[in-house]
Amino acid sequence: MISKQQVVQAYLPAVLAARDEAEAFAPSNIALCKYWGKRDAELNLPINASLSVSLAHLGSRTRLTPAGDDTDRVWLNGTEQAPDSAFSRKLLAFVELFRAGRALPVHVHTRNNIPTAAGLASSASGFAALTLALDQWLDLQLEPAVLSAFARMGSGSASRSLFEGFVQWDDGVRDDGMDSHGVRLAASWPALRIGLVKVATGEKAVDSRAGMKRTIETAHLYQSWPLQAAADLTRLHQAIDTKDFALLGQTAEQNALSMHATMIASWPPLLYWTPDSVAAMQQVWALRQQGLEVYFTMDAGPNLKLLFEADDQAQVEQAFPGIEVVAPFRA
Ligand code: DP6
Repeated sequence: MISKQQVVQAYLPAVLAARDEAEAFAPSNIALCKYWGKRDAELNLPINASLSVSLAHLGSRTRLTPAGDDTDRVWLNGTEQAPDSAFSRKLLAFVELFRAGRALPVHVHTRNNIPTAAGLASSASGFAALTLALDQWLDLQLEPAVLSAFARMGSGSASRSLFEGFVQWDDGVRDDGMDSHGVRLAASWPALRIGLVKVATGEKAVDSRAGMKRTIETAHLYQSWPLQAAADLTRLHQAIDTKDFALLGQTAEQNALSMHATMIASWPPLLYWTPDSVAAMQQVWALRQQGLEVYFTMDAGPNLKLLFEADDQAQVEQAFPGIEVVAPFRA
């Protein structure tokens, strides 16, 4: 088995010097065909390819500066995080892949304009922004595909947050995973809108990493997931190529519910929904029955992400007051 450290080492120059400052932004992303299950837990290599859309201005901004006090320190949204917190340890372990024992103490300032750990994929934008900032800070000048593969080792879905618009994360076949990275699709869809329905914003009980492990280990239903994902990926490409919104929405909603079916079939059962999540789903179905083209997708949490087009925005906002609406493609 190849370690993350070995993978990154192969791309680093012999001499590393840190700049005075580096700053990078990466968008969050919402998967229309989900990543659920790893074939390699060390490198976060997925069992299935996935496809997402990036959330434009919503994401993470990360700034790195050399530590004047010789101590690694981490701030999240302006608040310093305890060195032994899970957040600091995960983030600094990732930085260490690049420093590889060299004395380059760092201060990391990261800001999310999306709720952290509320099923809105802040780890995706967080690791993508950190990877981009490290590339600048250490003047590595690596290709986006390489940076995407590195971001994947922080969090799988981060591989897709290196790019804007529609992004496919290929599963790849190589043992070192360097062919498993995000690829931006050329397509644009200016009328596409994503509505974030915040059912709950607290930390989730079982994170995606533990959730997918439990699903693979205990749910027989998981065996059908790779087939569902492969078929959905084909349908999504067709929908994007022909601008067939109903096909896009239906495929994304069915894909999310299929993933949740495998979670529910796990033991102990994994049900990320609250009664409010179910009420929101039923509201979407009722709106569709009335002729409004609105669909939803959900990740490992209680929140819904609505999919609709610009012409229907007013009606969707009326049905879901207070939702945050994102236009992933600038017109
Ligand atoms: C349900 O990328 O958070 O949001 O690779 O273990 O960090 P790790 O998992 P993560 O999983 C995201 C799962 C998902 C679906 C998706 O975004 O594709």
